[in-house]
Amino acid sequence: MNKIGVLTSGGDAPGMNAAIRSVVRMALTKGMEVFGIRKGYAGLLNGMFVEMNARSVSDILHRGGTVLQSSRCPEFCERDGVKKAVEVARRMGIEGLVVIGGDGSFRGARDLSLEGLPTVGIPGTIDNDIGCTDSTIGFDTALNTVKDAIDKIRDTAQSHERCSVIEVMGRGAGYIAAYVAVACGAEAAIIPEKSFDFDQDILQPIIEGKKRGKENNLIVVAEGVGGSVEMAQRIEEATGIETRATILGHIQRGGSPTVTDRMLASRMGMHAVQLLYEGIGNRIVAVKNNTIVDYDILEGLAMKKSMHNDIMNMASILSL
Ligand code: ADP
Ligand code: F6P
Repeated sequence: MNKIGVLTSGGDAPGMNAAIRSVVRMALTKGMEVFGIRKGYAGLLNGMFVEMNARSVSDILHRGGTVLQSSRCPEFCERDGVKKAVEVARRMGIEGLVVIGGDGSFRGARDLSLEGLPTVGIPGTIDNDIGCTDSTIGFDTALNTVKDAIDKIRDTAQSHERCSVIEVMGRGAGYIAAYVAVACGAEAAIIPEKSFDFDQDILQPIIEGKKRGKENNLIVVAEGVGGSVEMAQRIEEATGIETRATILGHIQRGGSPTVTDRMLASRMGMHAVQLLYEGIGNRIVAVKNNTIVDYDILEGLAMKKSMHNDIMNMASILSL
């Protein structure tokens, strides 16, 4: 391939810029021309192409968000939309595409490959909800952002001897909630992967903790379970302990990527370009046991990863 494109799609994630940089510079190193496509699949449909050189990706490695911008594009879920996109790419002479995004974006990437535009997906989402990869770009940064926020909430909760219920992102997955609950010493992580009993899993640890001399309590709730405001009210009513709910929101998606995410993005970007250089499309790049690998898109999407029981239960055990 002589000419490829790169776009970011779906929710942005810290480290997407590091991936764009890696794709551009690896492609240039291989002697390929590379075009950045703005605003995800919407930009592909509307011909929003920008030719990239080595300097186009200067000073972006450390920045959150995506310099190419992203979008959610319903038109692309229709076959006609995908066909139109392939025609636009052909007219521009684009022979292959790298899509940085989540599972929705990968379904689009598969459709493009089937319609004749070889496309490789790189997992970029804070949710870590792509089954075939141990980690997604942005997950580690989001964990650190949430960790900073919860540490601050703990300061004030301790000063007022309060309980705090903190709702974190993750869409249908509880990875962010389960990991930060351990890292921040919460009493419990309430996640979609594990059913919970309000009295046993939330009230009891708070009441027992108070008897053992605890002066603050943290409960982390994944947005996939939700209801943090109501939970806080119920905790206060049942225990008499003043309780506040905080929904962290989009702060979790921003910020400078961690070293872990910069490394992952840089490695995955190079691997994606290597695949296209060899004429291979319809793949998802993944990391398994610290090795960069790739899977057929449909197979990769069908793979399930289950959260280890020890991680799901760690917060409750260690908050003794
Ligand atoms: P993410 O990629 O983070 O999961 P979305 O699910 O919003 O985010 O998907 C991003 C975009 O990918 C959508 O706006 C749409 O353009 C495209 N997409 C999503 N699902 C499909 C699908 N089933 N077929 C084709 N394209 C899709
Ligand atoms: O997929 C990333 C994510 O931040 C999810 O954690 C969250 O559910 C969703 O995107 C929020 O999407 P939006 O930015 O469209 O509100």
